[in-house]
Amino acid sequence: MTTPWQPLFERLIGELDGHSSPDWQMPNTTLDPSIYRDPERFAAERDRLFRRLPLCVGHVDQLAQPGSVLALDLCGVPVLLVRGRDGQLRCFLNVCRHRGARLVADEGTVCRKQSLVCPYHAWTYRLDGSLAGLPRAEAFPDLERHTLGLRSLPCAVRHGLIWIVLDPTADAVLDIAGHLGALDRELEAIGLGNHRVYRQRAQRRAANWKLIIDAFLEVYHLRRLHAGTIGPFFVDAVAVNDSVGCHVRSLIARETTPEIKGLPPQQWNPQAHATLVHFIFPNSVLIYHPDYISHLGLFPVAPDETLFVHTMLIPEAPADEKAAAHWQRSFDLIDAGVFDKEDLVVCEAIQRGLASGANDAMIVGQLEQNLQRFHSTVDAALR
Ligand code: FES
Ligand SMILES: [Fe+2]
Repeated sequence: MTTPWQPLFERLIGELDGHSSPDWQMPNTTLDPSIYRDPERFAAERDRLFRRLPLCVGHVDQLAQPGSVLALDLCGVPVLLVRGRDGQLRCFLNVCRHRGARLVADEGTVCRKQSLVCPYHAWTYRLDGSLAGLPRAEAFPDLERHTLGLRSLPCAVRHGLIWIVLDPTADAVLDIAGHLGALDRELEAIGLGNHRVYRQRAQRRAANWKLIIDAFLEVYHLRRLHAGTIGPFFVDAVAVNDSVGCHVRSLIARETTPEIKGLPPQQWNPQAHATLVHFIFPNSVLIYHPDYISHLGLFPVAPDETLFVHTMLIPEAPADEKAAAHWQRSFDLIDAGVFDKEDLVVCEAIQRGLASGANDAMIVGQLEQNLQRFHSTVDAALR
């Protein structure tokens, strides 16, 4: 039986031996710098992509216990993820039905609650969202309590990942397998659902969300920008890339990739022998490192500001201090050393330079064709 990885590795070996990828036949293109700055463009992306499409907002391991509550502000929408006493994971708008106060103020930190009590006038909601009670109820003789549960957002779990749509009027049933298309089988094969969350860090950075996606879609910079960190683990800019529906898949050659020539194909492993990257439209990147996985979620705040959420997933909870120290070192290297100080610093510098007028167009070469795949999909989705 072939694994999903065998044909990809066969192409990657071909690419190591010479320029066999179709990317070498694609013409150079350019990107218009205004797509990263224009407020109208930004509003269209927010309304037509981020408020309509399923977004991956975390991993179930963060909310494993009944009573777990996580408040997030995503693209200007205040969201609550709640694990009910019945074990069900639900998503609500973090907005009181009385006069709209924010129910849970602590964003980004999982807390445990028996119920949700509004800080303003103490209307109280059960963890299933229903309105449990309100003080001085005699002042609201006409209230139809059953209609005043928290507004829910469509929410689903697939491959251990939590997916929501930021639109309370959207169809409540999410078909995540359909959204993932051919990538669904690959996420299954990786076993994402069995992973544990080791650490998550969310930070706002001064760059357009697409500039950050761009940085994780091309391999041209790997041995250059990351020369002092992860660059030496990679062959110089050798990868095979595909559009998979609206998503993008890359398998990137590491120094260890040629070792597969001596192994049966069933043992070709996209983490041990290469680096697999899945870009899931519109805003998730999964990077499969040799022994752990990084999920990146990009949530636009403004044309020049993005919430960057990095979640490190590990195969099992650390068994002892030695294992914990190992994961801590890995997290420090990738999160602080690589993403924070290298990729994001460059993205912010690009953003600052966009208005200078130096470039009428950004040039995209044959090692960066995934940018073309990504931006053409965004353009099509906006039309
Ligand atoms: S706004 Fe929440 S109780 Fe009044
Ligand atoms: Fe990078």
